[in-house]
Amino acid sequence: MKKIIEIENLKLSYDAGGALIIDGVSFEINEGETVSIMGPNGAGKSTLLLAIAGVLKNYSGDIKISGLPLKEFDDSTLYKKVNLVFQNPENQLFCDTVEEEILFALKNLGVSRAGAEEKLNFYSVSLGLEKFMKLEPQHLSFGQKKRLALASVMVIEPEVLMLDEPSSNLDYVSKLKLIETLAGYKKSKIIVTQDIHFALAVSERLIYMENGSLTYDGRFDQDNLKLKCGSLYKEINDFKDLAAARRL
Ligand SMILES: Nc1ncnc2c1ncn2[C@@H]1O[C@H](COP(=O)(O)OP(=O)(O)OP(=O)(O)O)[C@@H](O)[C@H]1O
Ligand SMILES: [Mg+2]
Repeated sequence: MKKIIEIENLKLSYDAGGALIIDGVSFEINEGETVSIMGPNGAGKSTLLLAIAGVLKNYSGDIKISGLPLKEFDDSTLYKKVNLVFQNPENQLFCDTVEEEILFALKNLGVSRAGAEEKLNFYSVSLGLEKFMKLEPQHLSFGQKKRLALASVMVIEPEVLMLDEPSSNLDYVSKLKLIETLAGYKKSKIIVTQDIHFALAVSERLIYMENGSLTYDGRFDQDNLKLKCGSLYKEINDFKDLAAARRL
């Protein structure tokens, strides 16, 4: 299997000499693989994605993309290689209409008008945005903004698509649409999520993070989750118990 991401002994703190938010993280992602990263609030999941996306540059250790150090990519090539949908969509939307927002990156990529129209149609329908094309992004609801941020990055079709909490605030029908869209997206995906249902639906591998370190990297396996991702195991079983108690 060809590796697309190689991370070795990554360390990062926000303040010089401050606490390590990422504390010696190593893992690899293969081409075409989909991995979910889970773990408690403050574990460093978003920070890790921001480092891989080239936003946070002040790290030690290695991040390689397709065998090349991340620091050798300039912004104009990196965004096609690796791109991130931020946890908060407000940080990602700046155009006057939904349509322009989705088309923005395609214009920069020099995609033909017909090609851009095709991708616009595909991602707006896939993510249920077709009714909102002429609206201002700032006038959308939070869940709709989230879907627009997803469309505006997915339309670039980066080699590694990174999504930070993509299913948060999505209603169930929108979540199913996203699951289907991601199933059809055959490139590599790194998905940070608190949503175990979503993680199970979209990925075959789990990375669990606590206090800036990886505590688990492997398949969704009951025995391993019980041993190494205690709160996740508890969540799954508490849900089963509650559903049984309510006779669901
Ligand atoms: N810009 C920043 N400056 C200083 N500290 C920060 C900054 N951003 C995040 N942190 C700190 O880094 C730690 C990890 O934050 P991060 O957002 O990566 O966590 P997370 O795992 O994504 O959490 P959540 O599940 O809540 O999204 C937290 O303690 C947070 O307070
Ligand atoms: Mg986060």
